[in-house]
Amino acid sequence: MIGVLVSGSGSNLQALLDAGLPVVAVASSRKDAFALERARRAGVATATFSLDCHPVREERDLVMATWLEEHGVELVVLAGYMQILTPPFLDRFPERIVNVHPSLLPAFPGAHAIDDALAAGVDTTGVTVHYVDEGVDTGPVIVQEPVPVEPAATLEERIHAVEHRLLPSVVEELCAR
Ligand code: GRF
Repeated sequence: MIGVLVSGSGSNLQALLDAGLPVVAVASSRKDAFALERARRAGVATATFSLDCHPVREERDLVMATWLEEHGVELVVLAGYMQILTPPFLDRFPERIVNVHPSLLPAFPGAHAIDDALAAGVDTTGVTVHYVDEGVDTGPVIVQEPVPVEPAATLEERIHAVEHRLLPSVVEELCAR
C-alpha cells in the first residue's frame, strides 16, 4: 500500500490515483495544498504535518512516518513534496521511498529545475524517478526519460505529461516486487 507526500497541486498524485494504484494515505507539508482536495475526493485519508506545528524537523518526520505506518503504508511516493526528509523518516522505509523530479538528474536538482534548464540553454532535459536519501534530489536513479527543450513554450506541459506516465509505471512495478 502506498503513501504519497505532497506540498502543491498534486497532479502527480492524481496520476497515481487515476492509474488505480493502492494509495491509502496522503500527507502534506502545507494545509492549503490542492493535492489534499484531490485525495479527499478520492476517499483517501489525509493529514498535514507542517513545520508550524512541528518545528523540529526530525520530530515532524517521526510523527508523519508513524501516521503512514498506521495506515499500512509500505511504499512512500514523493509527488511534489518540497521538503527534505530526515533519518527518523528515511530509516522507517529503507529503499521504499521514491521521488519524481523534472530534470535528468544530477542536472538541475532543486525546486526550479525546468527554469534552470531553460536558463542553461540545454537542448534536452527530462524526468527522473529516483530513490530518496537525505540530499536534495540525490538518491539512486530508477528511471529517466529525456524531453527536448524546444518548443520551450510547451516544455513544462510536456515534462508533466512524461511525469504523469513515468511515475505510475515505476510505482506499479515497485508495488509488484
Ligand atoms: C512536479 O514537477 C515534480 O516533478 C516536482 O514538483 C512538481 C509537482 O507537481 N517535484 P504536482 O504537485 O504533482 O502537480
